[in-house]
Formats: sequence, C-alpha cells, structure tokens
Amino acid sequence: MIERINKSNWGNFFIVQSYYFQNDLFKAEKILFKQFNKNIEDKKILDIGIGIGRTTKYLSKKTKTYTGIDYSEKMINTAKTLFPKLNLKVMDAKKLDFPNNSFDFVLFSFNGIDCVDLNSRITIFKEIHRVLKKNGIFMFSFHNYLSYNKKSPTLKFTLNPLLLIVRMYCFLVSHFNINRYKKYEIKEKLYGMFLDGGGGLFNLVNFYIIPTFQKQLLSKLFKTKLYDTQGNIIINKKKFFNKENWMIYAICQKKIVVK
Ligand SMILES: C[S@@+](CC[C@H](N)C(=O)[O-])C[C@H]1O[C@@H](n2cnc3c(N)ncnc32)[C@H](O)[C@@H]1O
Repeated sequence: MIERINKSNWGNFFIVQSYYFQNDLFKAEKILFKQFNKNIEDKKILDIGIGIGRTTKYLSKKTKTYTGIDYSEKMINTAKTLFPKLNLKVMDAKKLDFPNNSFDFVLFSFNGIDCVDLNSRITIFKEIHRVLKKNGIFMFSFHNYLSYNKKSPTLKFTLNPLLLIVRMYCFLVSHFNINRYKKYEIKEKLYGMFLDGGGGLFNLVNFYIIPTFQKQLLSKLFKTKLYDTQGNIIINKKKFFNKENWMIYAICQKKIVVK
C-alpha cells in the first residue's frame, strides 16, 4: 500500500510541476560528481528516478551513453519534452530491464530510493549491483533517521489572495492526507517510514534509516563510503546527529559476490 501511495504522489500534476523550480545540482552532488568524474565522463550511465531531469541536464552532457528512467509516466513524459533526444524510459528500479554488467555509473538521486519499503530497497540494491560493471559506482542519497524531525502542515499568511487560497488548499489537503495515510507509518529501531511533505501535500511515506544500518545493508554487495550534505566524507559518527545532515550521500563500489 505504501508504495502505491508514493507512486501516485509522483504522478500528481502539482508535484510534477514543482520540479521545474528545482533544476540545479545540490552542493554535495557538484562536489562528488567532480570527485568521481573518471567514473562518469564518457562512461555508460544509468540515472534512476530522474523526475523531470534535474541531474539529466548535467550527466547527459558528460557522456553519449546516458539512460534515464523513472517509474512515473508523468515525470518521464515531462522530461522527454525537456530532453527530446535522450534515452528516457518508464521503468521501475525494482526490475531493471538491462543485461548484467551494463553500466559504469548508476545514480538514484534526491532520496528517490526512500519511496519504497525495506524489502523493495534490498531488491533495488541487488538489481543495481547486477547491472553495474566490475568496479562500477552506485551513488544515491537517503533520509537520515538520526536527524528525523516530525513535520506537520503549516499555513503561512500572505497578502496575495491567490497565493493564500493555494496555501489554504494545500493545508486542508495535507490534513486530509494525514488522516488517510497515518496508519501506514512504520517505526522501527533502525529505520522508519513517515508521512512527509511530498511537495507540501503529505502524500509521501518516506523511508528513514540509521546510516550505519544502511551501510551494513549494502556491505555484501558494495564497498560504501558516506558523505554529508557539504560533500565531505563522514568519519566521525557524531556528524550523523547534525540537523543539516538530514540527508546522507552514499558512494558504493560494486563488490564481486562469490555465490
Ligand atoms: C524526490 S524525486 C527526485 C527526482 C530527481 N531525481 C531530482 O533529483 O530532482 C524521486 C523520483 O524517484 C522516482 N522513483 C521513486 N521510486 C522509484 C522506483 N522504484 N523506480 C523508478 N523511479 C522511482 C519518483 O517517481 C520521482 O520522480
């Protein structure tokens, strides 16, 4: 059910439109893309959960072999209007329609992986591991459970009557969604799934995970390093408690798994 709620969020007209306002790379992405440029430039890239293509703009300029996917048809259709010449497809990360060892670099940006539950998360890691080439790199970000703060809808006053109506509408819809979806929240020791903004409408149940548990989950398949929102590697675990590290970046190098 959670995955159905989240998938419908990504098909919502207003959510799709809101992505037009987020079209630059984040600070950590700028730094890490530069740092791992040798794994990106002229390499085979798979960009998962592209939305309308925030990262497409940068990565597709770096290589001729760029593929972007998203399970939301609305997102992909919008992305195709912005990047008509690129290879963009509707596809779910849980079932990647590519042969083994296809890509040098796989990205799942802006916590897109947090739209699925724990079992599906593990399935996605296995799929990404399968399609990565030897020594390939998987980069993603996730919500940090150690800096989780419960969010509630707010109504900010404005003298602009049209904007006020939009804000009131969002406020009411948010409360309606909280009443409908609150029962699907999950609270465990090492991870949780909580109702979140989702473009301000509280119709997204996001996964939050303790970073060391995230690393442990990846450890059979990948050698992983974690980075903060400034693009610095995290060595001191105290950093996980900083409010500004509400999201953590992971750079994962494919391990060869002997069965
Ligand atoms: C937070 S948005 C990020 C969009 C874009 N990457 C960006 O940074 O602006 C997450 C995106 O991941 C997509 N997504 C979530 N789960 C997915 C899955 N299992 N397979 C493919 N795409 C998925 C959503 O449709 C949505 O477009």
